[in-house]
Amino acid sequence: MSAAIKLEPKPQPLLEVAGLTLDFRTRTGRVQALDQVSFSVEPGEIIGIVGESGSGKSVLAYAIMGLMDPAANVRGGALHFIGRDMLDQSDAALADTRGRDISMIFQSPRTALNPIRKVGLQIEDVLRRHARLPAREMKHRAVEALRRTRIPDPERRYHAYPFELSGGLCQRVMIAMALACTPKLLIADEPTTGLDVTTQAVVMDLIRDQVRDAGTSVILITHDLALAGEYCDRVLVMHAGHIVEAAPIAELLRHPAHPYTARLIGATPGAETEIADLAAIPGTLPDLRGDLPPCRFLHRCDRSDVRCRTQPLPLTEIRPGHSLRCWNPL
Ligand SMILES: Nc1ncnc2c1ncn2[C@@H]1O[C@H](COP(=O)(O)OP(=O)(O)OP(=O)(O)O)[C@@H](O)[C@H]1O
Ligand SMILES: [Mg+2]
Repeated sequence: MSAAIKLEPKPQPLLEVAGLTLDFRTRTGRVQALDQVSFSVEPGEIIGIVGESGSGKSVLAYAIMGLMDPAANVRGGALHFIGRDMLDQSDAALADTRGRDISMIFQSPRTALNPIRKVGLQIEDVLRRHARLPAREMKHRAVEALRRTRIPDPERRYHAYPFELSGGLCQRVMIAMALACTPKLLIADEPTTGLDVTTQAVVMDLIRDQVRDAGTSVILITHDLALAGEYCDRVLVMHAGHIVEAAPIAELLRHPAHPYTARLIGATPGAETEIADLAAIPGTLPDLRGDLPPCRFLHRCDRSDVRCRTQPLPLTEIRPGHSLRCWNPL
C-alpha cells in the first residue's frame, strides 16, 4: 500500500477570473468587449487596471459585480469570488454579495448618488440591505462611516443632500457607502476623475488607509499609470478587451515587455503631473465588431509580423508574476 502524500491546499485567491470572454449584441454587430481575460486578486492586495478609453475596464468591473447589461453575453470563462461561481448565481444572491462582500465606487460620484436623498440616509440604505439594526444604531453607524472618511463635521454632513457637497466630499460619501459593510473587495472605477490634484491624493490615501486597516482588496481602475504606480502592488494593462501585460508595478515600470505598455509609460508624465495624456498614443483601438486578429494591437505596433496576424496568442508568464501577450516583446 502506498503512503498517501498529503498536500497542503493552496490558499484560494479572493477573486479568480479565468478566460472570461464577453460580448454585446448590438444592431450593428457583436462587440467583442472582453477576450480570454484571466487574473486573480489576493486578500489585501491593491491591483490596478490601466488602459485607454474603451479597453474594457468598466465592462470587466461590472461583470465582477454581477451587474451585466442585458445585451451582454458571456461566451466563456469563469469568475469565482470567495469560492462562489459568480456566473451561476441568482440575482438575489448577487445582490446579497454586492455591498456586503464586494462594493464599487463609481466614476462620477454625483450621478451615482441619489440627488433627492440625504447622504446619511443613503449610507443607511446600504447598511439596511445587509443588517437589521435599530434606527438609532443605524444612524450612529452611518455617521461613523462618514467620520472614517475624515469628512469634516460628519453629524451635520449626514443631513446634507449631494448638491450641497463638493465633488471631493461626494466621493467621500461614496467611499463611506462602499466601505460601510467592510467588503472583502472594493472596485474603484476612476475614483479620482474630475477631482483636483490635492483632493485626488486625499481620496486615494483614504482608500489605501481604510483597506490597510480592514485587509480589503482593491481593484483600482484608472487611465493614470502614475496613480497606479503610487498605490498599486500589481497592475494589469488592458488593450481592446485583452490583458496584454500583468506584473508587479515596479517591474512593469522598469521592464515593460509589451510595446503598448511602453507607450503608456512614455505617455505618462511624472508622478507629480496631473493626468496622463493617453490620447498621445498613436492610432486608435480596433473596431471590436469586426474580425479581430490574435493581437489586437497589431495595427498600432511597429514590431508586428505575420504571427501577430495569424497565431493564437495566449497570456503567458515570462517571469514569476509577470505575464505577457506578445510575439515580439521589447
Ligand atoms: N452595453 C453595451 N453595448 C455595446 N457595447 C458596449 C456596452 N458597454 C460597453 N460596450 C463597449 O465595450 C467596450 C469597452 O467599454 P468599457 O466601458 O469597458 O471601456 P473602459 O475601458 O471602461 O473605457 P473608459 O476609460 O472610457 O471608461 C467599448 O468598445 C464599449 O463601446
Ligand atoms: Mg470605464
